[in-house]
Amino acid sequence: MTRSPDTGFHDPGLALGGGGVPRHVAIIMDGNGRWAKARGLPRTDGHRHGLDALRGVIRHAGERGIDYLTVFSFSSENWSRPPAEVSFLMGLLRRFVQRDLSELHQANVRVRIIGEREGLEPGIRGLLEESETLTRNNSGLTLIVAFNYGARDELVRAMRRIAGEVAAGTLAPEAVTDQLVSSRLDTAGIPDPDLIIRTSGELRLSNFLLWQAAYAEFFFSPVLWPDFDAAAFDAALSAYAARERRFGGLTAAGR
Ligand code: FPP
Repeated sequence: MTRSPDTGFHDPGLALGGGGVPRHVAIIMDGNGRWAKARGLPRTDGHRHGLDALRGVIRHAGERGIDYLTVFSFSSENWSRPPAEVSFLMGLLRRFVQRDLSELHQANVRVRIIGEREGLEPGIRGLLEESETLTRNNSGLTLIVAFNYGARDELVRAMRRIAGEVAAGTLAPEAVTDQLVSSRLDTAGIPDPDLIIRTSGELRLSNFLLWQAAYAEFFFSPVLWPDFDAAAFDAALSAYAARERRFGGLTAAGR
């Protein structure tokens, strides 16, 4: 597989064959509410157990030699949930950073946050910035937390930035290439996901990494997120290893 070092873009002409360990796995962690409901518990308990599952998955990703792990932890559409649930999810992020950041740092994990920061409560914004700053020189797993993230919103913000540069005369319209667009997204410098996993049996992308998913392999797991353990993760990785990735080209066998 070939990648250009700055954008991670795959070269469609050369990147033949699949298998192996995905370099970048992105996960839509779905099913917390149903997990809780099945146990007669409040939805918030599902999210709490979801955070435990996330901790396990981060550990397992490191053990499996994955370089980048992106998790969809709060979407720009999640604001429409009941205020108590929104505030619980904000609290969970706060708890995650306060309790886990030093451990992640010790484990050489580098944290990146994607999503819109404008409009977030200053305390939350501060924590997101602190996670990135503290871990910026780490060289192990890169954990990308999508928070207040929506792919269309990310694309709109990138388009505005590009339009501004064109209007200011610092960017020629012909210089707008796929690599340039990638470099203006929140994920600038991060290779595109090789594997996107969605849990809980839902078969949708839900405004997640729309641009970056162009050549991703998809794996839909029936497991509800709080139950997504190392074995469930390995099932997705095994399915990926068996896929043949062609990036619009042909396989070595000419198919
Ligand atoms: C989707 O389940 C899950 C979420 C909206 C939140 C994901 C959050 C976590 C896994 C915990 C970690 C969080 C942070 C902030 C670090 P759902 O509520 O849509 O479940 P349902 O579809 O069964 O109702």
